[in-house]
Amino acid sequence: MNPFEYGDGGLYAEEVPLSRIAEDVGTPCYVYSRGRIEENWKVYNDAFGDYPHRICYAVKANGTLAILGILAGLGSGFDIVSGGELRRVEMAGGALSTVVFSGVGKTRSEVAAAIASGVACIDVESPDEIDRVSEAAVYLQRTAPIAVRVNPDVDPDTHPYIATGLKSSKFGIGIDRVIDTYRYAAGKPGIEIAGVACHIGSQLMDTEPLLDAFNRLLDLVDTLQGLGINIRHVDAGGGLGIGYGRVPGPDRTVWIKTMVETMGRRMQQLPIIIEPGRSIVGDAGVLLTRVEYLKTNGSKRFAVVDAGMNDLLRPALYGARHDIITVKQSTDAGQRYDVVGPVCESADVLGTALLPSLELGDLIAVKEAGAYGSAMASNYNARLRPAEVVVDGGRFHLVRQRETFENLVALEALALGETATQ
Ligand code: LLP
Repeated sequence: MNPFEYGDGGLYAEEVPLSRIAEDVGTPCYVYSRGRIEENWKVYNDAFGDYPHRICYAVKANGTLAILGILAGLGSGFDIVSGGELRRVEMAGGALSTVVFSGVGKTRSEVAAAIASGVACIDVESPDEIDRVSEAAVYLQRTAPIAVRVNPDVDPDTHPYIATGLKSSKFGIGIDRVIDTYRYAAGKPGIEIAGVACHIGSQLMDTEPLLDAFNRLLDLVDTLQGLGINIRHVDAGGGLGIGYGRVPGPDRTVWIKTMVETMGRRMQQLPIIIEPGRSIVGDAGVLLTRVEYLKTNGSKRFAVVDAGMNDLLRPALYGARHDIITVKQSTDAGQRYDVVGPVCESADVLGTALLPSLELGDLIAVKEAGAYGSAMASNYNARLRPAEVVVDGGRFHLVRQRETFENLVALEALALGETATQ
């Protein structure tokens, strides 16, 4: 199923014309296809077949409650990186016993909240964090299941900002020091060793580095078991890339089957956890925006639209290229436009695209914006974060209202006097 296709009256999301959503909800606006989110999740789930596994959706990719609710409804697990994400999962009806807690800087209160909620595993990233987990578990009179996040030192061949498994990165514990770290953790009160984990980076277009890292994890498991440290699961992280309108990302079914087969050649067939984010929601969403102005400067033709880098940061931050198309369908050969936002930064470019001749008020869809789009939106330039809509067949639901100016200033004091402390 392709959820975004042209029909009568232009581009549709499932069975709803995007122009109708724009009229009703306004722009800019994120529009997601429920069907595509479910389909993406099921591709992973089906690929595992009977093999014991858990798909822990990476909440950071898109933590909108309704989206978490859709995934909770499928029985998904969740990968979180903060206490806020834990609360989002809980509110959305996700089972906290399916949660894996990743992240390099968990605070004391986040660790305590995770243990008290009975999460499946805390993926620890430093000896200091092990101390913190142990103290909290003892205080709460609970046992905290942990995995050490291993930094396997493989080059994932992606943008440096989203590569996490290199020796020089802040993430995980270097593979040369992992055994000592497990020994240390095993001797700590309140801690129960549950698994091994790694995540080497995001938007990976080749599974070779992932397989390399997976094999290193399995070697580690053998060594740990040999030392009497019992490992119950292997968490391979997320990271599979998507096409962004060009070469499609790696085949998910093939990747999962490769992991299962690799595991099959080992002594033990341990349950596998994966933490996909982008590949679940990325191609299920578009950012819908409207042309405000058209102008040319030098040799460039600009379409100034009402969405900016505060709404979708990826092009400005990573030089990411998203396909941009018009909602109106046209056979016009087209011209090249720089599609830019209203934010006062030269980096506020959503992309360049060959588009049919634009007119003021035309609607534009920035594709594959479901992951790390709304989740990374900000209020820069005192802009209100966009509305979000989920389309389900012929119906659509406003799942996040556009922010209001009152929301924006709600936590601020007007005068210095009101906030004075001695
Ligand atoms: N697990 C861990 C521990 C992670 O750090 C991440 C992503 C994931 C899973 C999910 O990875 P995915 O399947 O989505 O590739 N803002 C960037 C991406 C940052 C990814 C951070 N970690 C972007 O817009 O490209």
